Amino acid sequence: MSSISFRGRDLLDVETLSTEDIQHILDAVPSFKEVSERDIKKVPTLRGKTIVNLFFEPSTRTRTSFEIAGKRLSADVVNISVSTSSVSKGESLRDMADNLAAMQADVLIVRHHVAGVPHFLARSVPQPVINAGDGAHEHPTQALLDVFTLQEKWGSLQGRSALIVGDIASSRVARSNVLAMRKLGMQVCVCGPPTMLPVGLDQLGVESTSDFDKAIQSTDVVMMLRMQRERHKDVLFPSLAEYAGRYCLTGERLRRAREGVVVMHPGPINRGVEIAPEVADGLASVILQQVTNGVAVRMALLYLILGGG
Ligand code: CP
Repeated sequence: MSSISFRGRDLLDVETLSTEDIQHILDAVPSFKEVSERDIKKVPTLRGKTIVNLFFEPSTRTRTSFEIAGKRLSADVVNISVSTSSVSKGESLRDMADNLAAMQADVLIVRHHVAGVPHFLARSVPQPVINAGDGAHEHPTQALLDVFTLQEKWGSLQGRSALIVGDIASSRVARSNVLAMRKLGMQVCVCGPPTMLPVGLDQLGVESTSDFDKAIQSTDVVMMLRMQRERHKDVLFPSLAEYAGRYCLTGERLRRAREGVVVMHPGPINRGVEIAPEVADGLASVILQQVTNGVAVRMALLYLILGGG
């Protein structure tokens, strides 16, 4: 039996998770996925617990799947609308979190455009904090659901290869996935225009290239990323059309890949920019399986952190 316990722990990043931690979380997921496949998708595991969703950035998948995950476990889920909260009257983040903690919330789930905010709040409040995406830093639950989706398909990820393509420097999804995939024994290569490739990737054991047409020929999974123009301070590529010409995963490019290659995207997708509709909706795509698994992974995490028994 595993000696790992997540009870009361924060989930702030993949960087500080061990390989055993990651596998412990992934091993808990299938039983929660089974709950979501039932006619009545609800178990009493977290009855009496209160989950607060505190999202300072837009979200469809992460916020909704945390809400669905909490409700399927019978927890009470509160979604704070930041624009109508007292933050708009000048209340500080710290004071807001202290007040939510004083209402005996059991866990805070935080997304913020500034890197490190969930870590700051985790030091400020006694409740566990889950990072739902902080700036360009990390998006740990996205990486967990991505590697779960691959393990579900292949079993062990040891020796498998991944190509992550797009706006790597702006992407918290890329960073968390690089860390999770490397810890699970995968080879990772990132690909994008030179202006979108961060420095220091070699320290994580990651290769980089700007030649998508070559790199796609030797990978087991290709993960496409949205260009995050909201994070750019400078123009990083002359035009969207030129970007799409070189880095859009089209049906023609996909035909150069190995047989059985898996196509992933964390969403939201920009059809025709980084991924062509026929690929997003095609047989190699697991994009909606990622979303389905996102609910089960978040159910497992809430269960492990809030200690439902
Ligand atoms: N993948 C992801 O984080 O999507 P949302 O921004 O919709 O939550």
